[in-house]
Amino acid sequence: MKQDFFWGASSSAFQIEGAWNEDGKGKTVADYNAFKRSHLQADTKVASDFYHHYKEDIALMKELGLTAYRFSFSWARIIPDGDGEINSKGLDFYDAVVDELLKNGIEPLVTLYHFDLPYSLVERFNGWASRETVYAFERYAKICFAHFNGRVKYWQPHNEQNLMVRVDERMNIEENDPQKADELRFQMDYHMSLAHALAVNACHQMIPDAKIGAAISSTMTYPKSNKPHDVWAARMNDNFKSNYLIEMHVTGDYPQYYLNYLTQRNITILRFPEDKAILQQAKMDFLAVNYYRTLCAEYYPTDEQIGVRERGANEVDFHQRGYFKLLANENLKASEYGAQIDPMGLRLVLNDYYEKYRLPMIIMENGLGAVDVLEDGKIHDHYRIDYLQRHIEACQLAMEDGVMLFGYCPWSVIDLLSSHQGFKKRYGFVYVNRDDFDLKDLKRIKKDSFYWYQNFIQQSLS
Ligand code: BG6
Repeated sequence: MKQDFFWGASSSAFQIEGAWNEDGKGKTVADYNAFKRSHLQADTKVASDFYHHYKEDIALMKELGLTAYRFSFSWARIIPDGDGEINSKGLDFYDAVVDELLKNGIEPLVTLYHFDLPYSLVERFNGWASRETVYAFERYAKICFAHFNGRVKYWQPHNEQNLMVRVDERMNIEENDPQKADELRFQMDYHMSLAHALAVNACHQMIPDAKIGAAISSTMTYPKSNKPHDVWAARMNDNFKSNYLIEMHVTGDYPQYYLNYLTQRNITILRFPEDKAILQQAKMDFLAVNYYRTLCAEYYPTDEQIGVRERGANEVDFHQRGYFKLLANENLKASEYGAQIDPMGLRLVLNDYYEKYRLPMIIMENGLGAVDVLEDGKIHDHYRIDYLQRHIEACQLAMEDGVMLFGYCPWSVIDLLSSHQGFKKRYGFVYVNRDDFDLKDLKRIKKDSFYWYQNFIQQSLS
């Protein structure tokens, strides 16, 4: 790999920071949802306590050999209610983190919003249902661009908008009628795209030497068989789960199949005439790809009108009559949490995105969630090493295919709170000594994968 390739690792604010209400931080949607489950698993209150350990953790990143760190700012730490007063202590914290990274030669790659909308925006405006939230996001983005100008050069407005909108609790959709829930969802998705575009435009105007791009939850769907309808079903699953949004970001409009679907579902999105120019102007500089697994689909016939979405194995994997139904791929092994492991799928999806969108890409998330066991002060996570090694090889092959990839940031830098499955499911290179209900000493312990990645980075850069 070239010297200017970023070897990084990832995290997000609500999953790593803790200090959920310290120094003026406001409550977020992520806090709200985690507290609802706190009798079952860890919540956001302490998480990995990065807020109080950031110096030690950045020292570990340096020792690991990272040249980049992908993390998010908590909007509610900087602006507690989302659109009001700026909390200077919130900015102080991110100043300290960014400066410590730069001091250690680690490039900060910042996401502005990773599943943690300030909860006050939900209480006052029903979150992304309203354009108030769009303008609040634009203001927050501009505050960050002005404040970190010259220090943060890589930005992502939202993390995985395409996945986030599928999960009711992340969007605060509390509508029982599935048709009404979807009407709200599609409007919210549009508003988030508009907010993304406003941030891209502001970034280009305010800090022309910075780069900004969307972080997509990539999907790669295989047809169950070579029947033409199954092939179409697989393609439509990718279209409805991810491609429609990349296309919106790239062209400033929805593809026709998406508009047709809205008509079939009798859903109207309210768009203002002036939005068009904003969306079309917003050209991303790169595409950030999050990749964990692949999917498999078969055609799902219907004699009736296209109905509401049906829940699949989980909320993100919905089925849609008239289009696709998801099922397991018998050629792949799954992780203990059910993610089908598929390095070749990464090579395929990178090639697919590069052919279609011609944007430089960076892997912002890729990793294996597992229950690690601490044995005599060590964690022998050979399964994670195997996963990462094979996915890095897939990146190398994709680059040989001609894909322009400029970095690899596996999830996650240290153990942190899973997005919805507590602290038992771990992804990090560093073990954080706590479990769901016992905070223990939060000691950082390097796993075998830490030494493996450290050695790998050293070799790649020498
Ligand atoms: C990604 C998210 O979709 O998947 C992360 O951006 C998340 O926030 C990661 O942690 C892994 O998912 P989970 O549910 O295992 O934590």
